[in-house]
Order: sequence, then C-alpha cells, then structure tokens
Amino acid sequence: MKKVLENIIEKNREWSKRGEVASYIPELAKANPNALGICVTTLDGEEYFAGDYDSKFTIQSISKVVTLMLAILDNGTEYVFSKIGMEPTESAFNSIVNLENNKQKKPLNPMINAGAIATVSLISGETAEEKFNRILKFTRKITGNDTIDVNNNVYLCEKATGDRNRALAYFMKGNGIIQGDVEDILDVYFKACSMEVTCRDISRIGALLANAGVLLNNERVISREACRIIKTIMVTCGMYDASGKFAVHIGIPAKSGVGGGIMAAVPRRMGIGVLGPSLDHKGNSIAGIKVLESLSQEFDLSIF
Ligand code: DON
Repeated sequence: MKKVLENIIEKNREWSKRGEVASYIPELAKANPNALGICVTTLDGEEYFAGDYDSKFTIQSISKVVTLMLAILDNGTEYVFSKIGMEPTESAFNSIVNLENNKQKKPLNPMINAGAIATVSLISGETAEEKFNRILKFTRKITGNDTIDVNNNVYLCEKATGDRNRALAYFMKGNGIIQGDVEDILDVYFKACSMEVTCRDISRIGALLANAGVLLNNERVISREACRIIKTIMVTCGMYDASGKFAVHIGIPAKSGVGGGIMAAVPRRMGIGVLGPSLDHKGNSIAGIKVLESLSQEFDLSIF
C-alpha cells in the first residue's frame, strides 16, 4: 500500500501547477502550493502515509462535517434538517443568491457556508467560547489527536475578511433561520475553520464515517443513521458545485476545504486524508482530486 501511495503522489504532483492557493483569506496565500500528501486509515487500524503527509493546514470547510455531527448529537437529525436543507447546488460555496431564491429560505445544505453557519448556531453551549470548546474537544476525540488547536493568524484573518459570511449570517437571522448573536455565531464558525490538522487527522474523521460512527477503539460516537445521512450529503454536496463530476469519476463520499484538504470515507473500508493547497476554480484541491481518482481506480473504491 505505501508504495502504491508514493507512486500516486509522484504521478500527480504536476497537477498542483495548474491551480492556485486560496488568497481570499490572505493568511491562506502563504501555503506551499506544491505540497501533496496522503494518509489512509483502514478500518482494521492500519495507517499508511506518503508525500507531505505531515504538513499542517487549516481544516476549513472539512469542519462542516464535524460541526454537523455535533449539531446532530445535540439536536437530532429532524430538528437540524428543519433548519438546513439537504439539496445540492450549482452555485459556489459562498453563494448569497441561493438563500433568497429558495422558497423555504433555509440554506440548501450543511456543506455550503450558509448551511454551516446555521449548523454552528445549533451547537449547544452558553457562550461562543463554550460552543467552540465543545467543537475542539469533539475534533480531538474523533481524530485521537489532543494537540489540535486553532491557527490564530488564520482565525483573525478570517474574522477580518469574512464579510461575505457576515452577509449570509445576517440574512439568515432576518429570515428567522438563526437565532442569537450573529457575531458570536460567526466567531465559532471562523474558529472551527481555523483548526490546524494534518492528513492523518482528517483521515481519522473519514475512518469514523466509513466505520458507521464507531472509532477504531470501538467506541460509538455517533449513530449509524446520522453517518449514513452525512455520507450521502458528502456525495451530493461535499465538493460543492463539482460534486457531480467527483461522484462520477471518483465515487467516494468526500469533503474539501480551501486549506487544500480533502477528507474521504470509503464505507466499510477506509478513511482518507489528502492535502494539496493548490486549488481549482471551484475551491477544491486540484492535485488532491487527481490523487483520489488514481486511488479509487487502483483499489476499486467507487461506491457506485
Ligand atoms: O468561510 C470560508 O470562506 C472559509 N472559512 C471556509 C470555506 C471553505 O473551505 C470552502 N471550501 N472549499
């Protein structure tokens, strides 16, 4: 397996040159565009690594899966999906027009920014600090990594430049989709996006989903049913408006982030974490997608 992963990384490295690192959050522009790494966590507990697997990056939108898990644990699926839809969209992850065009006024799904901000607003806690600390504790638990923390520079930068997210959040408050202090909710969202991880950390999150909610130490943290729903939404919405093509060519539930990470869950088989900060124009790791395509073909991983 290790040899196969190394070959896949080397074969796909050149793809990084065809994309660009995210720059709309200036701190992210500092990432190394040529980094490319992978970790695979199989459900029998083996872990395989290749390339720049130990580089750190911010989790960004992959946190949307983590906050969705926690919001479901706190409120149940029925309540969560009464506030947030489960429909894919052909608009970008930060689209505003989607919120207005949609009759029910609720965000289309939890994988786009509006949906994730609404999801975060449902997480239990008296204060923004308590809510975020619950997210951090939960992330540490499901990754088995107690050292995960916020990259403060990225957090402050997101907060300073996040006006589009502010617009989405205030619009949703005006429509009664979210309650409470909007700046507090955004603060939790920005911090969740700024948690710093490695390929191994996100691979472990993938393994939890692949294992239907049970950690590798046999502890159940979320129900099989919630995992089924989350994996389905990852297939239809996890790669944003590129989810259809990704499903056709790779066929694995996955979630990307603008830090360059892609977390994938192959049901009953493995979790996968990939890093490649150079992005395509839809905000997904350009080489990371190619790595997953090669891996899917090599081991026949498509669920379809
Ligand atoms: O809200 C934002 O713009 C970022 N913190 C997260 C967006 C993101 O990762 C979209 N992913 N491709």
